[in-house]
Amino acid sequence: MSNNLLQGKKGIIFGALNDQSIAWKVAEKCHEQGASIVLSNAPIAMRMGEINKLAEATGAPVVGADVTSADDIKKLFETTMNHFGGGIDFVLHSIGMSLNVRKNKHYTEMDYGFNQKTLDISAMSLHRVIKTAWDMDAINDWGSIVALTYIAAQRVFPDYNEMADAKALLESVARSFGYHYGKRKNVRINTISQSPTKTTAGSGIKGFDGFLTYADKMSPLGNASAEACADYCVSMFSDLTRMVTMQNLFHDGGFSNTGVSVELMEMVEAQLGA
Ligand SMILES: NC(=O)c1ccc[n+]([C@@H]2O[C@H](COP(=O)([O-])OP(=O)(O)OC[C@H]3O[C@@H](n4cnc5c(N)ncnc54)[C@H](O)[C@@H]3O)[C@@H](O)[C@H]2O)c1
Repeated sequence: MSNNLLQGKKGIIFGALNDQSIAWKVAEKCHEQGASIVLSNAPIAMRMGEINKLAEATGAPVVGADVTSADDIKKLFETTMNHFGGGIDFVLHSIGMSLNVRKNKHYTEMDYGFNQKTLDISAMSLHRVIKTAWDMDAINDWGSIVALTYIAAQRVFPDYNEMADAKALLESVARSFGYHYGKRKNVRINTISQSPTKTTAGSGIKGFDGFLTYADKMSPLGNASAEACADYCVSMFSDLTRMVTMQNLFHDGGFSNTGVSVELMEMVEAQLGA
């Protein structure tokens, strides 16, 4: 269903790896709502070729950029502005990667070299993207930037490892740059804190399936799907949310405000034979 909420708007979507990716669903929904988009991912991820299907379906060019490279990001903005013939209205940062998790390093045995890369890819890349746009004056007045995050930034989920710290930093960058870009050009910057979702990045977390079920049972509305997250992103890119900025917005079916649920208590009681 399209209400043309993004008619005439132009955006960059980072992070669509395959059709499970949250960014993939966001790209589809933005296209459905009338936006023109450019897709970007790390060159190594693009070699898998999946993204070309999305490009075809959404009529979007694909421009490779490793978000740890300032040059790559500058070229991406240049190419995008040439393609659109002007400024950009929205950006989705849907990027995460933990080297310590990949290398099976427990939080208490952190490799700090890996950790620096994790923070660079997963958090400071948001700063780099926004700063590049800022320097090039690439974002239009009342533009909107959204980055995806997870509640491990506020509460401990032991197996989320160093990504908890990365997400805390990401959310802080959104707030801090949100102030400056708001003052300069009314550009809003927010993070959306999404339910656990079965994707390539999500499945990298140890015990992910059990965890997905736990979150589902804890949330009065159940886990939010990737499609629902995409709808929320569309609303954040639309003109209906112009005064929302510097926020961490929970999109989690109520998980973040639930202490315990009846379903979980019943499961525990059944285990105890009560
Ligand atoms: N899946 C979940 O449970 C969940 C929950 C909350 C938040 N998130 C967040 O949502 C975002 C998207 O993740 P996803 O779950 O859709 O998984 P995904 O694996 O589909 O997406 C992660 C993307 O990051 C990209 N990426 C990694 N390194 C990069 C680099 N150097 N340069 C450019 N791109 C790079 C990957 O190629 C991939 O497209 C991430 O920020 C993730 O932390 C995911």
